[in-house]
Amino acid sequence: MNTADKKSDFGLIGLAVMGQNLVLNVESRGFQVSVYNRTTSVTDAFVAKNPGKKLVGCDTLEAFVQSLAKPRKVMVMVKAGAPVDQVIEQLIPLLEKDDIVIDGGNSLYTDTERRDAYLSGKGLRFIGAGVSGGEEGARKGPAIMPGGPASTWEVMKPIFESIAAKVDGQPCVIHIGPGGAGHYVKMIHNGIEYGDMQLICEAYALFKAAGFTTDEMAAVFDQWNEGDLQSYLIQITGKALAQKDPETGKPLVDVILDKAGQKGTGQWTLINAAEQAVVISTINAAVEARVLSSQKKQRVAASAVLQGPAPALSLEKKALVDKVHDALYASKVISYTQGFDLIKTMGEKRQWGLDLGGIASIWRGGCIIRARFLNRITEAYRGDAALANLMLAPFFKELLNRTQQNWREVVALAVSNGIPVPAFSASLAYYDSYRSARLPANLLQAQRDFFGAHTYERVDKPEGEFFHTEWPEVIE
Ligand code: 6PG
Repeated sequence: MNTADKKSDFGLIGLAVMGQNLVLNVESRGFQVSVYNRTTSVTDAFVAKNPGKKLVGCDTLEAFVQSLAKPRKVMVMVKAGAPVDQVIEQLIPLLEKDDIVIDGGNSLYTDTERRDAYLSGKGLRFIGAGVSGGEEGARKGPAIMPGGPASTWEVMKPIFESIAAKVDGQPCVIHIGPGGAGHYVKMIHNGIEYGDMQLICEAYALFKAAGFTTDEMAAVFDQWNEGDLQSYLIQITGKALAQKDPETGKPLVDVILDKAGQKGTGQWTLINAAEQAVVISTINAAVEARVLSSQKKQRVAASAVLQGPAPALSLEKKALVDKVHDALYASKVISYTQGFDLIKTMGEKRQWGLDLGGIASIWRGGCIIRARFLNRITEAYRGDAALANLMLAPFFKELLNRTQQNWREVVALAVSNGIPVPAFSASLAYYDSYRSARLPANLLQAQRDFFGAHTYERVDKPEGEFFHTEWPEVIE
């Protein structure tokens, strides 16, 4: 198609698979899209592979910028970090006032804030947009988490809403908030993704220890995907477990090395949570489980010298499936509780004006953590916008009260059999701590006062009144 005379509605830089698929998605909604990639042959091959589409392949950034209708909308889909800054630097002299740069990568939200300030100082507009859904989501409809000025969102809204996934007719995109809010929320999405994935892996570990075949496990996950655990990650787990290795005929998961990779968004989430003093122990456990998994050589050596219990998983399979279901569901609730607590805390601190129910709602489709139960989180925040903790919303309170017995039985079973379930148990410890009217922190305060005269409050005196005891001298 000859598109040379018409200016494009949208431009995208960075034609890796995600970028290519986003372009095809935008184009399929009726927009003309200009594309640029640093290596020209990639651009040429992409355009040649998609004949008849409203695509304008550009060999130079100058030609790319000139091909766009004003205000120009340029989406950058390059590796997070320095490459984003490099592309921005190249674009600045070519763009004009009010043109819009959108960073669709997994950028650190503080980098987004820096870029936002930098570009607005030059009269340009910037959107830091989290885009979730992997390659398929990019093509068919991702969840999009855009941050930046509301006025810039209004300009981008028609394109974003048309390319986003739809659930119940609603596009999985809302304006998250100003500055780095969009990339921040995407970061927490990824932290939650880590939590969900680890919890599923712990369920798998229990089934494996109980002697389930991978096909039996696949059937369990398929069945769970029909119920209240329905989610993309449960669905792909069923499919992954059913997959056979063409080379050996074995279940593919059995030949995959047990060393998990990670690109950093989970770690960023932990750092932020520590800074904000918010407990995200499930996500923490998930990140650390990946770290320990990567120490394969050390683990293999330790397995020969450090002892565990003699395994004796004697539960009948159906009973185990039901109990693990509850442990997974309850732990998942804790993980989301913690993730939303962190979002709420940061949102209030930064005055981002976040709509927590809206965020849960756009995660129902397109993104990696898409799941049926996100509706319940939206309901919880719609019911009480000031909700202190998600566990206290009626639906979740009932769910936790109903599942807690099976959940602790699963953790006990795992512990007594030497099966590591760090995310199940961290979630349960959070639940039990949060519901404890009295914790052993009284002794901790005594210790602090003992060695450092840090003082303590008393149960029988008003809060805010501090006491110190002259503790006995220690003779060592
Ligand atoms: C998404 C994913 C995506 C990516 C993660 C993977 O929402 O589409 O989260 O952003 O797959 O960055 O992260 P790890 O490599 O750290 O597992």
